[in-house]
Amino acid sequence: MSFVYMKILESRPQRYDAGMELLTLGSLTQIKREIAGHVPPGSSVLDLGCGTGTLAEMCIERGARVTGVDANSGMLAVARRNSPSANFLNISLSALDEHLEDESFDFILSTLAFSELTRAERIYVLKQIKRLLKKDGRVFIGDEIIPENFLAKCFYYAFRLPLRLLTWIATQTTTNAISSFDDDVREAGMEIVDRKQFMLGMFILLEIKI
Ligand SMILES: C[S@@+](CC[C@H](N)C(=O)[O-])C[C@H]1O[C@@H](n2cnc3c(N)ncnc32)[C@H](O)[C@@H]1O
Repeated sequence: MSFVYMKILESRPQRYDAGMELLTLGSLTQIKREIAGHVPPGSSVLDLGCGTGTLAEMCIERGARVTGVDANSGMLAVARRNSPSANFLNISLSALDEHLEDESFDFILSTLAFSELTRAERIYVLKQIKRLLKKDGRVFIGDEIIPENFLAKCFYYAFRLPLRLLTWIATQTTTNAISSFDDDVREAGMEIVDRKQFMLGMFILLEIKI
């Protein structure tokens, strides 16, 4: 049994992209394409919680230099295959201050990683973003939130929760919606300057100003 369980865990990173495509009904890919569309050639990009490196590769294809950070070595093994020219660091988002220099990046990006952090970790990472971003740099964060709108909330509980369960059974991956992102950004001393919604407001793409 434990061998079968281990095999399932080992195979998770390979299943990750298909699982997330199903779980987000394509919204995650749409968000990544939208983010990558802002990145001009030659820019330096940091992808926080880069997972299997799909966003990193979209940015590389646009001519950017990308550093991806993730604590999961299995995910990074897939990322290195998906995006061989990116630089991937196997470190925790809670240790950014030990590994990356001040004002190193033109773009700091993240998709579906903040929703895996505690509130204290989210605020720490947001403060690190302030330190790591170059002057006039830009920050884009796409993630899952619990929608505020009543209808969307009904949809969330009626549709998303069973879908999350099915996706977990099929792929052993899932996400946890954030309920306080606006407050987190404010507490870190930053400002949301643009907001786009996907899937009835269950996923958001934020541009944040430091
Ligand atoms: C849901 S996945 C998203 C991956 C990718 N950004 C995407 O959108 O496809 C979350 C990723 O964040 C990483 N992660 C979560 N908490 C982390 C932490 N504290 N430090 C580093 N990576 C973390 C996980 O290992 C995982 O690869």
